Amino acid sequence: MSEKGTQWIEKKDGVYWPSEKMKEKAFVSDPGIYREAKENPKEFWAERAKELIDWFDDDWNYIQKWNPPFFRWFEGATTNLSYNCIDRHIDDKKDKPAIIWEPEPLDEEKKVLTYGDLHREVQKFANVLKELGVEKGDAVTFWMPMIPETAVAALACQRIGAWHSIVYTAFSPEAVRKRMDDAGSKMLITADGFYRRGKAVELKDRINGALEKVDAESCIVVNRADLEPEMVDGRDHFLSNLKDSVDQSCEAEELDAEDIGFLLYTSGTTGKPKGIKHSVGGYMVQAALSMKWVFDFHDDDIFYSTADIGWITGHTYTLYGPLIHGGTTVWYEGSPDYPNLERWWEIIEENEATQFYTAPTALRMLVKMGKDLPDKHDLSSLRILGSVGEPIDPETWEWYFNKVGGGRCPIVDTYWQTETGGILLTSLPGMGPFVPGVAGVPLPPVNYDILDERAEPTDKGAVVIKEPFSPGMLRGVYKSPDKYKEEYWSRYGDKIYFSGDEGIVTEYEVGGQKLLKIVGRMDDLLEVAGHRLGTAELEDAVQTVDEVAEVAVVGKPHDVKGEVPALFVMLIEGAEPSDGLKDSIVKAVRREVGPVATPGEIYFVNDLPETESGKVIRRFLRSLLEDEELGDMRTAKNPECLKELAEKVGYSGPQEIPGYSS
Ligand code: WTA
Repeated sequence: MSEKGTQWIEKKDGVYWPSEKMKEKAFVSDPGIYREAKENPKEFWAERAKELIDWFDDDWNYIQKWNPPFFRWFEGATTNLSYNCIDRHIDDKKDKPAIIWEPEPLDEEKKVLTYGDLHREVQKFANVLKELGVEKGDAVTFWMPMIPETAVAALACQRIGAWHSIVYTAFSPEAVRKRMDDAGSKMLITADGFYRRGKAVELKDRINGALEKVDAESCIVVNRADLEPEMVDGRDHFLSNLKDSVDQSCEAEELDAEDIGFLLYTSGTTGKPKGIKHSVGGYMVQAALSMKWVFDFHDDDIFYSTADIGWITGHTYTLYGPLIHGGTTVWYEGSPDYPNLERWWEIIEENEATQFYTAPTALRMLVKMGKDLPDKHDLSSLRILGSVGEPIDPETWEWYFNKVGGGRCPIVDTYWQTETGGILLTSLPGMGPFVPGVAGVPLPPVNYDILDERAEPTDKGAVVIKEPFSPGMLRGVYKSPDKYKEEYWSRYGDKIYFSGDEGIVTEYEVGGQKLLKIVGRMDDLLEVAGHRLGTAELEDAVQTVDEVAEVAVVGKPHDVKGEVPALFVMLIEGAEPSDGLKDSIVKAVRREVGPVATPGEIYFVNDLPETESGKVIRRFLRSLLEDEELGDMRTAKNPECLKELAEKVGYSGPQEIPGYSS
């Protein structure tokens, strides 16, 4: 019987809860699970590991071993992610759609890859990798758009135990080069280009210089847009020329649960991006559990996540999560506003998607420019809506809930990080409650807490994770154990993981736990349109401009993107502010990091507020941009510079700044 239009949610005391229908359908609906899981957290994970994934050998040496701040799970047992995503489904689901791909151009047909197709293509691709010398433990960098070959290539790496390191296409070739260099990867997989807003965007022709610099041994190119890129003899190969001549079968390698599954570079508090290491076994268990429980993912569901493969959300939920369960995932190549702002709604309607997962920034754009457009589409197939990447404001939440979900579907506001591998905190569909602006409770049996500076539990403070962590959390930073310790395990010692975020304990409760609201980053990271960027990385980019003496980057609030990078730039003696110089700075950022980091605002200033020891006080810069109280200005050794800054940003906050009137 069709479930279209079912009321999955009801309102009680001003808050939303699952309806009886949802409780009946959901895999978990008894809040007792929270307490139960906590009584024996390691056994809880061990049971899930056996129940949710297939192991070649499940006789692990131990469930979890902890040598703070390092931990390991299920070591000694063997499995493979590609096997779990494909081979184990092949007997029953050979003809079932695994990936439904929607190209951006309207005159192109969508493509469906069945489990049978995936099985065939992934084996071929794996043999292509081997033929080109890729071995277990080698890092293979991807600069790939949202096309089916990207999924195939990632699964092929998993199959042979090579580590994919996928770089978002809106990062620059220079950013790709840095990541290849750090990972020591000798191979790049890319495409000639892809379609975005109706135009073909080049990839291969833009990356040639970077490939020279890192001395790449090979580059596999997928022909997507017939752009006829330049190919270097012996190094560059079109996939189509290789894949039919290799052996057509390739068994999945038996990997240890603690082998590295992939690297994913993410921004940290220093200029250099960090290669986050994820494990084969633990990552898979957590991806499987969160997919099943958070999205209440059933066998006939059609999952549509708009997250690009270049981000952790793309890895865990656009690709692996649905396939681990033998489900169907929808991939869309292009932009939400092409050819108009109805594209996502069309894709949901056309494919009868049951879950839709996206980021608040995109929703804010759609509210702003096409508030009523969802009304034109039949979205009654939807059962669960998801949000990720940044806090969702209550107004956008209500719109999402009413316009997209028709007031019928719960919104799972999922809080997690590249480092956690999978969702660790949200209200679950079968239990709720769903409160606008409040993310929810830790997944059973995850142990989140909010701590003050003295590591005491408090109502507003740092979001931390305590023992026993969760199997999918990072295993380290590639080649940098020190960075790993410093970034996550120094603020509260080596037994408490510091997320970098600030959170609030709310009055809402389920299963004996209070729901948490996530406020945002406490450190120097930006979330621009849901994309994580490090201020230090941007500052290093700006410093490459000769005329720049000093620069400080902070986030400036933006009504669609959440925040945009605002640059406070001091010039060297003799250099003059000009539009040309602004242009050079923008170009430098786009070259070094990529269009994703394009500055929102550039202020040329004569001085920046600093501490006695010469550290720029960003807090003042942020408060100026947000029209907030600055606090005690004497913490700066040069408070007189704040007058100029207030003028430049047009400060209208409550603080009295000597010499300045708004
Ligand atoms: C933020 C994305 C509020 C947070 C999965 C975190 C969120 C950073 C939420 C990680 C949410 C993610 N509510 N904030 N539901 N989800 N964040 O590594 O600041 O790209 O630390 O992973 O995004 O970003 P990342």
